[in-house]
Amino acid sequence: MSPVLDRFPLELLRVRDLRVDFAGRRGTFSAVKGVSFDVHAGRTLCLLGESGSGKSVTLKSVMRLLPNNLECISGSIRFEGAEVLDMGASALRDLRGAKISMVFQEPMSAFDPVCTVGHTVLQVIRRHTGSSHSEAQRRALELFDMVRIPSAKRRLEAYPHELSGGLRQRVMIALALSCKPSLLLADEPTTALDTTVQIQILLLLRELQQELRMGMIFVTHDLGAAAEIADDVAVMLKGEIVEANDAVSLLTAPSHEYTTELIRSSRLDEPRYAAEAAAPVQTAQLK
Ligand SMILES: Nc1ncnc2c1ncn2[C@@H]1O[C@H](COP(=O)(O)OP(=O)(O)OP(=O)(O)O)[C@@H](O)[C@H]1O
Ligand SMILES: [Mg+2]
Repeated sequence: MSPVLDRFPLELLRVRDLRVDFAGRRGTFSAVKGVSFDVHAGRTLCLLGESGSGKSVTLKSVMRLLPNNLECISGSIRFEGAEVLDMGASALRDLRGAKISMVFQEPMSAFDPVCTVGHTVLQVIRRHTGSSHSEAQRRALELFDMVRIPSAKRRLEAYPHELSGGLRQRVMIALALSCKPSLLLADEPTTALDTTVQIQILLLLRELQQELRMGMIFVTHDLGAAAEIADDVAVMLKGEIVEANDAVSLLTAPSHEYTTELIRSSRLDEPRYAAEAAAPVQTAQLK
């Protein structure tokens, strides 16, 4: 990319005054109360905030994957210039299958327990690309290589429960990349994993995002993870964004007292991310 475009990266997603209300037994509950943010190609925006602050609802809104008790969604979500809130079923299918992908916290839910990992992966690739079985197999091995899954052929024959949490998450990332998305949504993708594996997955995501120049929204409640992966950070509290800035400015000179408290109570001074980042990840160590 040219230096000029690097300075003014392509705006992929523009969210303005997003509001999401759910119907509940005790009336309407406003989960997201007017959030606005942008995501640029080749950059990672971190949505950081405590449990219940509205991070997942915001993320699911981008793909219009909200539960049935949704009462009202308003504002604007423009993806590559098109208004997502105005899209019909077929435009949404195209958007989800080809332009935006999502990686969840619990990869097990993405797999059918009675099918091999290869069966699921090949099915997804064939659906996206319309390719033959052998072409899909070649692409699967290419994707496994990209997400650093060792002994890829053997892993394709495994059942989901036979893989470790870290490997399952790598397969889910491979699945998410199979349609070559321009925007990757990652909802706490490392939370369920052991610390060392968390860091490996985090570094892998960062590397892939940069290599493929995707935009990424990374949701987390972990300030250390945000510091490691984010270009920009938006801090959410009770359905609102209380502070947003580029990661370095936000983490070194926070302006909102909630962000200041988050930084004070975090373990950012522990060198776990820095040390792991400095050491190359050995394929043999992968769990
Ligand atoms: N379908 C729903 N109906 C009613 N309320 C909901 C629904 N889904 C989410 N909420 C509420 O909306 C708020 C935001 O939820 P959300 O899942 O976005 O939080 P979060 O920031 O992702 O939290 P966590 O870190 O625990 O994943 C919470 O109070 C949650 O209970
Ligand atoms: Mg969540």
